[in-house]
Amino acid sequence: MESTIIKSENFNAWFGDNHVVKSVTVDIPKNSLIAVMGPSGCGKTTFLRCINRMHELTLGARTEGSVRLYADEIYDMHPILVRLKIGMVFQHPNPFPNMSIYGNVIAGYKLNGRKISRSEKDDMVEDSLRKAALWMEVRSTLRRKGSFLSGGQQQRLCIARAIAMKPDVLLLDEPTSALDPISTSSIEDLLIELKKIIRSS
Ligand SMILES: Nc1ncnc2c1ncn2[C@@H]1O[C@H](COP(=O)(O)OP(=O)(O)O)[C@@H](O)[C@H]1O
Ligand SMILES: [Mg+2]
Repeated sequence: MESTIIKSENFNAWFGDNHVVKSVTVDIPKNSLIAVMGPSGCGKTTFLRCINRMHELTLGARTEGSVRLYADEIYDMHPILVRLKIGMVFQHPNPFPNMSIYGNVIAGYKLNGRKISRSEKDDMVEDSLRKAALWMEVRSTLRRKGSFLSGGQQQRLCIARAIAMKPDVLLLDEPTSALDPISTSSIEDLLIELKKIIRSS
């Protein structure tokens, strides 16, 4: 049986008086691809934002209950550490507009002040872009700005940026909702491929 990677117990979240996430108890097995479904406004985004400690950045927002990453209570961890271990890709692609494709992939390392050599960076950029199924399309234009890419390519760049940090968990909030059907299908295929890569590594 797979072990549990994320476990929430009686987890609640509010925006002011609006009780949005109500007593959610769920076990997410390791190496699994899980979809959260529900009508618009039911709290899917809020729940994901709670799991990587972003909900608390909204004024008046609060939470109650437990979410654990393995045995660690994420609300007792430093939020930056949580966000390193639990990456997130948002509904609308958000590459850093003034950074190159290359710069976007290594952005997490730069922002966290981690020092890595040029060759390690090159390897990480290639590896992450390959896993995000974008390498073949951008390998000769790595120094161009990420904002020149199509919407589907920008979203795969955001996935590459998240994967580069080697997170334990990747949260994706409707990552294809702003994309055309072909880009949607390529990102869906990519997630199934990623699951295979994670299982075999
Ligand atoms: N920044 C915010 N401030 C106040 N209320 C919010 C905010 N974001 C979302 N909400 C409210 O929280 C509820 C859940 O929203 P959300 O998590 O975005 O739902 P979903 O992702 O399932 O569509 C909605 O009622 C929404 O109006
Ligand atoms: Mg949402």
